[in-house]
Amino acid sequence: LPEDLYMPSRKAAKGVEFGDRRTLGALMDAIAKARPIRDAAPIISGLRRQGVARDVISPIDGGIIGVVHEATPDQSAEAMQAARAGFRLWSRTPIGSRAACLERVAQDLEARAPQWLHLLQIEAGKTLDDAIGEWREAIDFCRYYAQEARRRFESAAVMQGPTGEDNRLFWRGRGVFVCISPWNFPLSIFLGQVAAALVAGNSVLAKPAEQTPLIAAAVVEAFHRAGTPASALHLLPGDGRVGAALVALPDVAGVAFTGSMETAARINRALAAKDGAIAALIAETGGVNAMIVDATALPEQVSDDVATSAFRSAGQRCSALRLLCIQEDVADKMIAMIGGAARELLVGNPRDLAVHIGPVIDQSAKKSLDSHIKAMRGRAVVHLAGEAPASAPQKGFYVAPHIFELASASDLKGEVFGPILHVVRYKAEELDRLLDALESSGYGLTLGVHSRIDATIEHIVERRLAGNCYVNRNMIGAVVGAQPFGGFGLSGTGPKAGGPHYLDRFCVEQTVSINT
Ligand code: NAD
Ligand code: ALA
Repeated sequence: LPEDLYMPSRKAAKGVEFGDRRTLGALMDAIAKARPIRDAAPIISGLRRQGVARDVISPIDGGIIGVVHEATPDQSAEAMQAARAGFRLWSRTPIGSRAACLERVAQDLEARAPQWLHLLQIEAGKTLDDAIGEWREAIDFCRYYAQEARRRFESAAVMQGPTGEDNRLFWRGRGVFVCISPWNFPLSIFLGQVAAALVAGNSVLAKPAEQTPLIAAAVVEAFHRAGTPASALHLLPGDGRVGAALVALPDVAGVAFTGSMETAARINRALAAKDGAIAALIAETGGVNAMIVDATALPEQVSDDVATSAFRSAGQRCSALRLLCIQEDVADKMIAMIGGAARELLVGNPRDLAVHIGPVIDQSAKKSLDSHIKAMRGRAVVHLAGEAPASAPQKGFYVAPHIFELASASDLKGEVFGPILHVVRYKAEELDRLLDALESSGYGLTLGVHSRIDATIEHIVERRLAGNCYVNRNMIGAVVGAQPFGGFGLSGTGPKAGGPHYLDRFCVEQTVSINT
């Protein structure tokens, strides 16, 4: 590997030791007392604007936790004009200053931990464990992208060659980036996109998911507090119509999108239909993620890893396991163990430390999962049909774990974004046929393999079925800087968030040749 691919060593953000009751107790008290923001509005050139007001609903109990003013088309156009000026200013700001700004955001995140964790719980329905994981990832993104920007872009690459001139290669921001993010990582993905775009020298129009505008508003305020010029970062909250309006604006240099494949395809078509320069599209989308378990796998480890991969975060991770493929000889035993492990998972209010599975994000997600469950009950073997306990808040959006067995891998059409696991059996001699079926889904995000046979592992991994392959472990929770994350095919255009080439996607390269 070229020298520049190796990372200087870097520690991940500090976590919380759940076994230390005193620290945990103090943190929970602080979270309970935290008073995070209750309203979000367009922030254009540092000024909050009024828009069409809508309630922000907590998935925990359906209660109103705030209000969001959604951006109007005029506000989007005004923000674009300001961002063009912001780009001229920010792109000339030294890389060291841009990186330092991200590092101050990381400090701010650490200093205000209870506020962020509180928001992640009430607005996105995260368990404390998941909230801490996401908050740490956000801090890691800031520090990692700051470090990478300094290392890669601070000085131009000197190009050796036969011309006898001074040839240098620079990385520059592209212009105004539109960043559009999903609700399932409302802090780390929203922030990760914005941080990468900014540190690479772009100005940003940020459009968070409609379900989680409060966290996004708090992030934008943190960037401004950290010294990001008001003209370089603007917040435009609202639903898909606001996203579509931003994409359609003239002078969009790039779009960083994370979300469903269907929306990515819509954005791609909208960009292609525009006149003028072709904007870059960075798309990170979903997956129909499989895990292959052969007869040599350790059953206890498999059941633990499957429960984590399929049901943690209520299955609302793009990386989550959707299709478990078990070698026929061990399938009955494995399915029984996995069902047993899943039955032990407690569904309910995520602010209760005993709870493993919190709510799904909103009424519409619950409705679509309930209708998938109903359809599966009619055509699959039901191994587990969980129920949310009566203690779960009545008006919240809860879906308990389900396990359905299908006749064939190709029976699972598309991504099912919740705590629903599909299982198929395969015969050892049919492994290649199974791999062909997985490949034909067109997705390529995560893949799990459980086997003790090196040749089998190699054979499966070499098929290039997914951007992230996990062997003999669970398949969620990629670590920034260590496990660059992202897929290809229907899972995206191939960027690796938290990887050494992510920032390049936000840049243009410029060669300067001087006749010395
Ligand atoms: P979504 O596609 O419905 O929405 C994502 C964002 O796009 C939201 O902000 C939404 O308002 C906006 N949007 C909707 N229509 C738009 C349009 N026409 N033009 C511009 N913007 C538009 O996705 P979601 O339900 O918020 O998120 C879940 C999806 O995200 C899942 O498919 C999941 O797998 C995927 N995801 C992928 C990754 C990854 O890293 N690959 C990470 C997290 C989530
Ligand atoms: N990066 C997140 C994970 O790996 C989506 O689970």
